[in-house]
Amino acid sequence: MKLDVWLTWKNKVNIRNIPEYEIARLREKAKEINGSPTNYENEYSTLLTRRLNHEPLQYIEEYVPFYTIQLKVDQRCLIPRPETEYLIELIKENIEPSKGILDIGTGSGCIALMMKVLFPDVEVSGIDISQEALSIAIENAQLNSVPVNFYQSDLLENVKTKSFDLIIANLPYIPQDNLDGLDKEVIDYEPLIALNGGVEGLEIISRLIQQIESNDLTNLTLCLEIDSTKSEQTLDLLSDWKDVKLLKDLAEKDRYVFATR
Ligand SMILES: C[S@@+](CC[C@H](N)C(=O)[O-])C[C@H]1O[C@@H](n2cnc3c(N)ncnc32)[C@H](O)[C@@H]1O
Repeated sequence: MKLDVWLTWKNKVNIRNIPEYEIARLREKAKEINGSPTNYENEYSTLLTRRLNHEPLQYIEEYVPFYTIQLKVDQRCLIPRPETEYLIELIKENIEPSKGILDIGTGSGCIALMMKVLFPDVEVSGIDISQEALSIAIENAQLNSVPVNFYQSDLLENVKTKSFDLIIANLPYIPQDNLDGLDKEVIDYEPLIALNGGVEGLEIISRLIQQIESNDLTNLTLCLEIDSTKSEQTLDLLSDWKDVKLLKDLAEKDRYVFATR
């Protein structure tokens, strides 16, 4: 097939910046969209152009594997990261929720849905401030036939029940001054509301901890995914909590804080 002849010279030059495995996957996606393994040049060119414009491969492919499930992703939600898959692993190994699980800042629904898969007898809710994120989380619940209660809330504002013993939160943690330095793949495509952690990067996480304390929520474990450079400040925020543990990701970076109260 003479696809490269057919591409513009500019694209041919830039295409060398795309790894081989991505090229192969874009080709497969083009065949899928075209509905046939031949004559897919138009679709392939469109997908290559999107990738050359720095759109993440995951948004182009539309689906990503996450732990044991498959998720739809697009610009309504953050692309789930491997660090978050490892958070699932750590929770599975270390915590036994029985009353209820609340996933705050659910995005694609990845954490909430995996919790329901791992703990099918426990009620799971996923909340997000973004209606757009919630709409894709609901699609992902249907896609995986996993019953999770998704609803809109600014942190705990619309949470009426106290019947949970595990709160998980992977909230935005990038300091707002660092946003401009992010890769184009991230800053140009992923939702800003999923990234911007305010002035120090800890604004939303610290507001959540304050809300839990002022609502006097107890008998629960809080599991946070954090920026590896913010572990000391996060531990300071949890000075009144018990069993505070700082855990590392697979790259040996401080990435998670577990605490109870
Ligand atoms: C870093 S993303 C994580 C998404 C998903 N949990 C994951 O691990 O891939 C943070 C999510 O928090 C949501 N969010 C931001 N501010 C929030 C707030 N005040 N209350 C609830 N959710 C919020 C964003 O919309 C976004 O979906």
